[in-house]
Amino acid sequence: MEKTRVAIVGMGTVGTGVARLLLDHGDRLARHAGRVLWLEKATVRDLSKVRNIRLPDGILTGDLQTILANPEIEVVAMLVGGLEPARTYMLQLLEAGKDVVTANKAVLAEHGEELFDRARALGRTIAFEASVGGGIPIIANISQCFSANQILSLRGILNGTSNYIISQMDEQGADYAVALKHAQELGYAEADPTMDVDGSDAAQKLAILAHLAFGVRVKWREIYRRGLEAFQLADLKYAAELGYRIKLIATAHLQENGLELHVSPTLIRRGRPLAEVRGAYNAVTVVGDAVGDMFFHGQGAGQMPTASAVVADMIDTAAGRTDITFRRLELWSDRESKIGLLPYEQTLSRYYMRFFVADEPGVLSQITGILGKHGISIASIIQHEPTSQLQLRQVPLVIMTHEANEKAASLANEEIRKLESVSQESVKLRVMEASR
Ligand code: NAP
Ligand code: HSE
Repeated sequence: MEKTRVAIVGMGTVGTGVARLLLDHGDRLARHAGRVLWLEKATVRDLSKVRNIRLPDGILTGDLQTILANPEIEVVAMLVGGLEPARTYMLQLLEAGKDVVTANKAVLAEHGEELFDRARALGRTIAFEASVGGGIPIIANISQCFSANQILSLRGILNGTSNYIISQMDEQGADYAVALKHAQELGYAEADPTMDVDGSDAAQKLAILAHLAFGVRVKWREIYRRGLEAFQLADLKYAAELGYRIKLIATAHLQENGLELHVSPTLIRRGRPLAEVRGAYNAVTVVGDAVGDMFFHGQGAGQMPTASAVVADMIDTAAGRTDITFRRLELWSDRESKIGLLPYEQTLSRYYMRFFVADEPGVLSQITGILGKHGISIASIIQHEPTSQLQLRQVPLVIMTHEANEKAASLANEEIRKLESVSQESVKLRVMEASR
């Protein structure tokens, strides 16, 4: 059988999983690729580090040059995270005539245009299934299987680390910092987990999906995003009391006046598929005008699920399939999309608002008056009796609104927080309705 020589740049969580599949399951991969995928080299930054895998002699190197200078290596999995040196490595690999496979969504969301232009100019390819949704084949589905459709909306849980943390807090009352540490130990988190928990990682993935689904070339930093800082353990409990869970939801929704794009902690009614996604699992609902509703669910982070997507891309690249789809997709090309972005403040949602208020006469009417002034209708209110001496003066007040626009909800929220009887700490979250 013919051989395609491959290499790995970056032997961390994902790179190690890719090496395992290549070395332990070579026969299976060869059957699927119609050729042997032969691991020729793997580079790391620190050669002295103890690794959780035993590689055959001569494979591990600390020098990327050994891959760049080897004309026999055709396909390289670039599995270094972050922007630099990842961007430079990808450019060097393309210049050296290699086809690149990557799981690095940060570098694609930030430098996609430059990287894809360069790949096209050089007649090379970039495959990136693992960059969104880990093991879920969402890129292939959106870019190939839905091609008969106008996609109308995508809604998803796109960050495994934050979903793991929320699940641990929700189900076990776990402390945020402890849950984050577990997520890091399990290999889900980025080297710097800030972008996992503040909504940036999900926004980078959403920018990639929106580009594929709607042709919009959106800069991920322009996507409105909030993360786990926007709510507290108490809000998970109040949401549960109301029949909801809170999830970090990335939304792309085509409206008549533009594409709605945001990442935000959102209340979803219990029992709905996205509400029941636990741990490091990701999920995406896609609505297409012909196909209707689809739901994708699977492990969105972690060594082997991510390696599964990387190796599938390596097989497709070795077999010549990536070349066909890459040229047809015209990703990050200068082809303009007719779809513009809808300003975040014009988006519509129901809202969950939580305030700490003085337990005194007249406070509630002040708050409902402000909401009414901004045209916001209240669906329900919960105020519990104080349970401790500490709570005697300030009690939590939870309000669920009917649909309102974001600008009105923000202005009303600000105005309420300025009331003397209301403390500065407040929470305002979107609520996803079954019809949206
Ligand atoms: P990781 O565990 O931090 O591994 C990164 C690897 O890159 C390490 O082996 C490191 O070498 C190597 N590296 C870093 N800087 C380098 C340099 N300058 N030169 C050569 N090698 C260098 O990261 P990971 O979790 O495997 O993630 C890799 C990529 O996959 C990231 O873009 C991430 O966003 C993406 N991803 C990860 C997951 C996941 O669940 N972990 C899922 C989907 C996508 P040393 O080992 O010598 O330090
Ligand atoms: N850190 C990312 C996450 C890895 O937790 O989802 C998968 O992209």
